[in-house]
Amino acid sequence: MPDTPAASTGLDDLTQGRPHDWWDAFYADQARPIPFFCASPDESLVDWIGAGMIARGIALDLGCGNGRNAIFLAKAGFKAAGVDFSLAAIQWATQRAREAEVELRLQHASVFELDLPPGGCDLVYDSGCFHHLPPHQRARYVALVSSALKPGGWFGLTCFRPEGGSGLTDEQACERKTLGGGLGYTEARLREIWAGPLRIFSLRQMVPQSADSGLFGQSFLWAMLAQKP
Ligand SMILES: C[S@@+](CC[C@H](N)C(=O)[O-])C[C@H]1O[C@@H](n2cnc3c(N)ncnc32)[C@H](O)[C@@H]1O
Repeated sequence: MPDTPAASTGLDDLTQGRPHDWWDAFYADQARPIPFFCASPDESLVDWIGAGMIARGIALDLGCGNGRNAIFLAKAGFKAAGVDFSLAAIQWATQRAREAEVELRLQHASVFELDLPPGGCDLVYDSGCFHHLPPHQRARYVALVSSALKPGGWFGLTCFRPEGGSGLTDEQACERKTLGGGLGYTEARLREIWAGPLRIFSLRQMVPQSADSGLFGQSFLWAMLAQKP
């Protein structure tokens, strides 16, 4: 596994998301009260899987963090894999998968380094990775998600609504060379980005959850489910 998975390009130097070593430091203290440091899966993911329309096949969690959603998918009967470019995240997810006694394929890599077989996934999931990608990586990301899905496969996304993000436009992010903590998306913008290669099945605000619900949900996040035609 590479030590520095995110290869730098000229554009990466112009507009950076948070680099993998920033995330390593972020994950160093697992006891911090960060909402997504919990073990609970996204309420939206649990809802969609419970609805029964997503075949229990191959699932890939992009930017999987501590593995909370990938572990849920493995428990639900998927052949699940997670990838994250933070080594600290992958180590945490490895430990949590062991404790949960589930089989989970974990890979320390940038999503852009993956050698994904086209049409290999029944479900691609992203909770909080897409909104940390700089604008120039967006089209490539949409293409990789779409290519990884089987026809009829599903893409689940959790990302910042406008009030959850930094408030920066793409142009401001490029000018200031920062995403300011992650980009917020309007409904129209999300539809514009994803409705080309995918058919958007549902797009709604996440439902906030109480601490004892066993689920993760925050009102400043979108939950989008889309399908590859
Ligand atoms: C907000 S965290 C969400 C973590 C996890 N999905 C969750 O919901 O608990 C975003 C994650 O995306 C990862 N990430 C960001 N850009 C990435 C990239 N280009 N390749 C792989 N992982 C990335 C970060 O390391 C971080 O773990």
